[in-house]
Amino acid sequence: MITMRMYDLIEKKRNGEALLPDEIHFFIDGYTNGDIPDYQVSAFLMAIYFQGMTEAERAELTAAMAASGDQIDLSPISGIKVDKHSTGGVGDTTTLILAPLVASAGVPVAKMSGRGLGHTGGTIDKLEAIPGFHVELTNDEFMNLVNKNKVSVVGQTGNLTPADKKLYSLRDVTATVNSIPLIASSIMSKKIASGADAIVLDVKTGAGAFMKDYQDAKELAEAMVSIGNHVGRKTMAVISDMSQPLGRVVGNALEVKEAIDTLRGNGPSDLTELCLELGSHMTVLAGMANSADEARKQLSENLNNGKALDRFKTFLSSQGGDSQVVDNPDLLPQAAQQIELTAKKSGTVSGIIADDVGTAAMMLGAGRATKESAIDLSVGIVLHKKIGDPVKEGEPLLTIHTNDSPIDAVKEKLYASIKVSDNGDDVAPSLIHDTIT
Ligand code: URA
Ligand code: CA
Repeated sequence: MITMRMYDLIEKKRNGEALLPDEIHFFIDGYTNGDIPDYQVSAFLMAIYFQGMTEAERAELTAAMAASGDQIDLSPISGIKVDKHSTGGVGDTTTLILAPLVASAGVPVAKMSGRGLGHTGGTIDKLEAIPGFHVELTNDEFMNLVNKNKVSVVGQTGNLTPADKKLYSLRDVTATVNSIPLIASSIMSKKIASGADAIVLDVKTGAGAFMKDYQDAKELAEAMVSIGNHVGRKTMAVISDMSQPLGRVVGNALEVKEAIDTLRGNGPSDLTELCLELGSHMTVLAGMANSADEARKQLSENLNNGKALDRFKTFLSSQGGDSQVVDNPDLLPQAAQQIELTAKKSGTVSGIIADDVGTAAMMLGAGRATKESAIDLSVGIVLHKKIGDPVKEGEPLLTIHTNDSPIDAVKEKLYASIKVSDNGDDVAPSLIHDTIT
């Protein structure tokens, strides 16, 4: 028997050659079980960073990482299970809206979600702002709920993609996070291990996104779509704008309220549009509509005829949540104080740096600075103006919902994040930049 050596794989990748499937599995298996040390993997990651990977290598790496731990079998759920993944944004409430919305059109939504870290909020945190709601379900309970109501959301459990966890920590300290093949395989391995048949990706670009630059976002989207299709999961991506926060609010309970408004057909136009766009692709991939136009028409109707909102109520009560919050949002956690930030001069809003608004929300307690931090579900920021809106001196730009945070520092951060210009030629950025299939 010929034994493989990690040394040879490092050398091969350093010289720009493509690795064979067996070699990729040898690396992932050996690293996961501790046979291959961090120092060799560090060198290997740096070689990948500089030499890249072919489409076949990326797909093999993703499959090997997905197979490194538990893999969820969603086959007891009938229908085509479509998952949505966002690369992360500020005030991105789409999952809360999309899950009941597409379920109302017959799409089975079996969603595993996470908590937030840093300036982006997690879906589980937002849902926990609803009194009584819980995400700890057994596998049987989870699948039964999806079969019955077409929608359930649970927290991540089990040992999913341990190879990705180890690699991500190592990339973090070896300056190798920013590599398209490594990012794409990391994200896709988790989606594949969670059992989706088809995947809709929302790749964000702009100041508040992980991929700030449009070309990088496009390259990442193409890489992930290629991987998904290589490993037999229909995958498509939408590249959407995250130069300013999505919708008008940032903060957990505030975003639940915004989701309810949107499900009622009264949501902010950008958030509504993104949900219709992503939702119609999900509906088509699930085989519940023949075209994106047909799906969009159905979904828009369900926002206006109460079906999406009814599905949200059913979803909440099926997981112990108080569905009365839908008609009485005062039942959601509320902050003690509301403080307005007013414009220092008249003009047009020309920029709202999403990252900084997210950081301000985190300073209020809406997000976690570290994995262990406790968060305050009631606090956050409500934007009254968005890019392209005219504003008069003294008019409120936004309202801060706060309990006991360092308010002067938060105000300073927010003032610095909102630009008001005199020339009046600033317009709202377009929301959907591209669609990759
Ligand atoms: N998010 C991930 O899950 N993985 C990466 O590598 C980068 C962002
Ligand atoms: Ca929002």
